[in-house]
Amino acid sequence: MMDTWYSNMVLYSLDPETFYDTNGDGIGDLKGIKEKLNYLAGLGITCIWIQPFYPSPNRDNGYDVTDYYGIDPKLGDHGIFSELIDHARDLGIRVIVDLVVNHTSIAHPWFKAARKDKHSEYRDYYVWSDEPWDFGEEHLKLTGEENTIWTYDEEAGQYYLHRFYKEQPDLNIGNPAVRQEILQIIGFWLKMGVSGFRIDAATLLIEPYGLKDGEKLDLESFIAEMRDYASLRKGDVILLGEANVPPSAMKTYMDKGQKMHMLFNFYMNMKLFLSLARKSARPLYAALSEQTSIPYGNQLLNFLRNHDELALDQLSEDEQHEIFQAFAPQKRMQLYGHGIRRRLAPMFGNDQCRMELAFSLIFTLPGVPMIRYGDEIGMGDNLRLKGRNSVRTPMQWSTGKHGGFSPADHVNRNVIQEAPYDPKHVNVIGAYRDPDSLLNFMKRLIALRKQCALIGTAPVQAIKVRHEGLFAHRYEDKTGLQLLLFHNLTDKEISVSADEADVLADDWVEIFRDGKTQVAHREITLAAYGYLWMKKFPQ
Ligand code: NOJ
Repeated sequence: MMDTWYSNMVLYSLDPETFYDTNGDGIGDLKGIKEKLNYLAGLGITCIWIQPFYPSPNRDNGYDVTDYYGIDPKLGDHGIFSELIDHARDLGIRVIVDLVVNHTSIAHPWFKAARKDKHSEYRDYYVWSDEPWDFGEEHLKLTGEENTIWTYDEEAGQYYLHRFYKEQPDLNIGNPAVRQEILQIIGFWLKMGVSGFRIDAATLLIEPYGLKDGEKLDLESFIAEMRDYASLRKGDVILLGEANVPPSAMKTYMDKGQKMHMLFNFYMNMKLFLSLARKSARPLYAALSEQTSIPYGNQLLNFLRNHDELALDQLSEDEQHEIFQAFAPQKRMQLYGHGIRRRLAPMFGNDQCRMELAFSLIFTLPGVPMIRYGDEIGMGDNLRLKGRNSVRTPMQWSTGKHGGFSPADHVNRNVIQEAPYDPKHVNVIGAYRDPDSLLNFMKRLIALRKQCALIGTAPVQAIKVRHEGLFAHRYEDKTGLQLLLFHNLTDKEISVSADEADVLADDWVEIFRDGKTQVAHREITLAAYGYLWMKKFPQ
């Protein structure tokens, strides 16, 4: 695998509205992100993904854009954006942004022109029909919140397609003018200094809805075109696709250094939660065997949580049920029939050992890790908020007003109020002071991950051990440098000796472990939810 900057990045995802408010209007802003970059640099983050900051009516948390070149005045302007980019660069942090071009907002000037006049050049920017097309349940992304993908527009006198909310009409990717607009948007933000894009709804983007009868278009090649266009303007750009697909389908989006550079590893995320729910390594081993090598020049992004529901839709109903039972047993904790709307800490009963185990796993599985803001301090959720808003509460910086998020009297989104997840118990400053906090664990984990670049570049091998609850794997690079990793998925101690796993007979240097795991020559005893990283240097 090629050694590129993204081969071993540590990504941090954040929402400008909920990170830090500097102007006291009760809404986070870009200046707030800039001011907190030192915190992120201290944590060891190497790249941040800033969620949408474009002008938007905010029907979908900014994923409904009215101007692809603009910045919502509530969040800042191009001046502060470029300062943010410069400051990030000085701290060794890159910035990627969302490219939300499967759909626009219904308030986008293109849609306004399109619905008004059948002959407008923008009419064909969207997908229209005199009758709603037949569609299966699988096309509904937000079941319960939006139960159709075709809505009749009085003004246009036709139905339009929208795979998400009805306020988000789908763009017609079959129209070359739309594809040209997308390329221009990419070019603009590259000029503004970003290092790449998270491609929103990548799977839907290249579905050929909207193509006229008999018209054929190789939409996969549009991904390659986006990459070429972007790479010509910035050689080390990345396109990171949001494509929730099984490993066998990944090559549609990312293929041997062509198309996108990276994909979110939804598949591994689901298998990981299944393993954690079952306290069995089998699902993880199965996923690993399907992903032993990542195509040259590409990378996978492993994560525990993101800003949406924890999607389980690639698992069977029984498997989903097992995960619900373990981590979201009440209906109000679930969403869209296949997802969980809880943060990490509450799912794990606020047990730091389990959180450390889960982070150690995503930091050592093939690929690179992503942290969702607030998960590094064990933030909770607010299930009283609707839908996905439960996991989108403001960052908790201190015990101050609104958890140090904003000096305003009234904030757009309230900070969590109830113990044990309120700012009195969970906040950055307090976590800094406690050497045993999750935050300080995360700092050590990140620092160590950076010294183990072979995780992002070398081939992986599963190590078979007798105990079903133990997951063991190993990396070896061309120089003979090796890394051996053990993760105990159960709440009981597990011992392994060299008789069982002969790799243990070698001379390993222990580099990282939880506080209770014990390592002796030829035998290790992993604590409940314990983890152990060992290195072997070339002879
Ligand atoms: C995926 C984003 O992650 C989600 O938050 C959004 O609702 C949809 N795409 C539509 O843009």
